[in-house]
Amino acid sequence: MRIYFLIVLLSLLQSYSIYAEQDHPLAKLWGVEDNEVPKLLENERNLIAIDKILKSILEQDNFISSFGGSVIFPKENIITVNTVDFSKVDDLLALPQINPHKDFLSFDKAENSMSLSQLIYNFDQIAFQASSIRPNQTIIYTDLESNNNVIYIFNRDINNSEFIEAIKPYNPKIIYENINSPPVSQNITQLRRDFNPRNLKIKLLSGDGLYNNGLFCSAGFWATDRFDPNDFYVITAGHCYNNEITNTEFYYAPWRYDLPSDLLIGRMVFHMTDPYDFGIINHVNKDVIPTFSVRNDVTTKYRELTITDSAPVTSVGAHICRSGRTSYFSCGYVLGFNGRNYGYTIGIKKDLIITDMPAERGDSGGPILSFVSPQNLYSVVVHGIFFGGGRILNAAQSIDIIFKELGENTIYDLTLYTGGSSS
Ligand SMILES: *[C@@H]1O[C@H](CO)[C@@H](O)[C@H](O)[C@H]1NC(C)=O
Ligand SMILES: *[C@@H]1O[C@H](CO)[C@@H](O)[C@H](O)[C@H]1NC(C)=O
Ligand SMILES: *[C@@H]1O[C@H](CO)[C@@H](O)[C@H](O)[C@H]1NC(C)=O
Repeated sequence: MRIYFLIVLLSLLQSYSIYAEQDHPLAKLWGVEDNEVPKLLENERNLIAIDKILKSILEQDNFISSFGGSVIFPKENIITVNTVDFSKVDDLLALPQINPHKDFLSFDKAENSMSLSQLIYNFDQIAFQASSIRPNQTIIYTDLESNNNVIYIFNRDINNSEFIEAIKPYNPKIIYENINSPPVSQNITQLRRDFNPRNLKIKLLSGDGLYNNGLFCSAGFWATDRFDPNDFYVITAGHCYNNEITNTEFYYAPWRYDLPSDLLIGRMVFHMTDPYDFGIINHVNKDVIPTFSVRNDVTTKYRELTITDSAPVTSVGAHICRSGRTSYFSCGYVLGFNGRNYGYTIGIKKDLIITDMPAERGDSGGPILSFVSPQNLYSVVVHGIFFGGGRILNAAQSIDIIFKELGENTIYDLTLYTGGSSS
């Protein structure tokens, strides 16, 4: 009887795997079948909600020296709380905001015994040294999972020894990318143009290619003037504008074409690269149609995703994805939120979202997003735009900072375009 049951079970599993599909980006990321994605996404949404409550408590004075932050694990359906002082666990669990969620919490010894207050203090000291020494081609951020601050150095051949010496007292984890190719700067090529859709309207999706004076980039998302919904803008990275040539015209550069098109989108009317990296292109060509869709045409399904809203990234361990002209669509995990990038030629960038999703040159400016609805696997929220990075980790600029900077320091008071459905 039991053996028969096992055989039935095995044959069920077998037929299941024959028909199993892995079209959804999250199925690939999590290594599951498409039909398991809604359940895992629901778990993740729940963990993020609990983690928000937990984070605000762990940052309070009476806990900040006892715990080293939290990381969510959607597949295991658990939040690990890095613990320095186990005698405080009962106090935390006794709180009425935390107690109902105690089954989702796992208290693990903080790997380096660093509390949040220690991590923050060390990060501030490292950032202070970095602003005065100005290390070259380096990202720093707090990595809650490894319970330490991370210094990521793109190129071992650059002499950053003064900086590395100065930050030794704070014991950060130093990661060398160990490749010799020059990062960030882009390839300028001479072009012939061949994609030429005369009399043809195109929809410009988030993630589509942009071209400005030898530089390829990706479109982040469409925004409109807060008071004039017919005044459209494309948000992309500030470094997509070629400062050396100073022509503000941006052209459409379709995926899978080596060359850009003759289709003008509009002119970049504002850009900055320090301490934030974004630019805005004012839409002038009415043959280019604004959308609130993200391109993902690398599988047969989920080819166009729908932007329903924007949101900040709040949990380490949550999934995060991007779309862009060079490496199309990919997903990874959130590693941190307080990233800073230092470089001699590109200045300092602050408040970067740090992730491990793969990306390449030319993906800059593309949207950073995540899936939000277990009921609608096409629905995404935008977190920001892709900035750049290396082989092991990448950084993104968050959307709330972009709108805040524009609103406070320019004449452009913009809001995310979602077709009037929300936001
Ligand atoms: C920083 O890196 C750039 C690009 O590799 C290089 O040209 C420059 O000389 C470096 N500066 C220092 C101080 O190492
Ligand atoms: C690296 O720079 C330091 C000073 O910042 C200098 O003392 C050292 O000799 C340099 N090392 C190399 C290999 O150039
Ligand atoms: C730039 O692109 C051209 C044409 O694709 C290629 O031949 C060249 O090696 C590239 N240069 C760099 C620095 O990537």
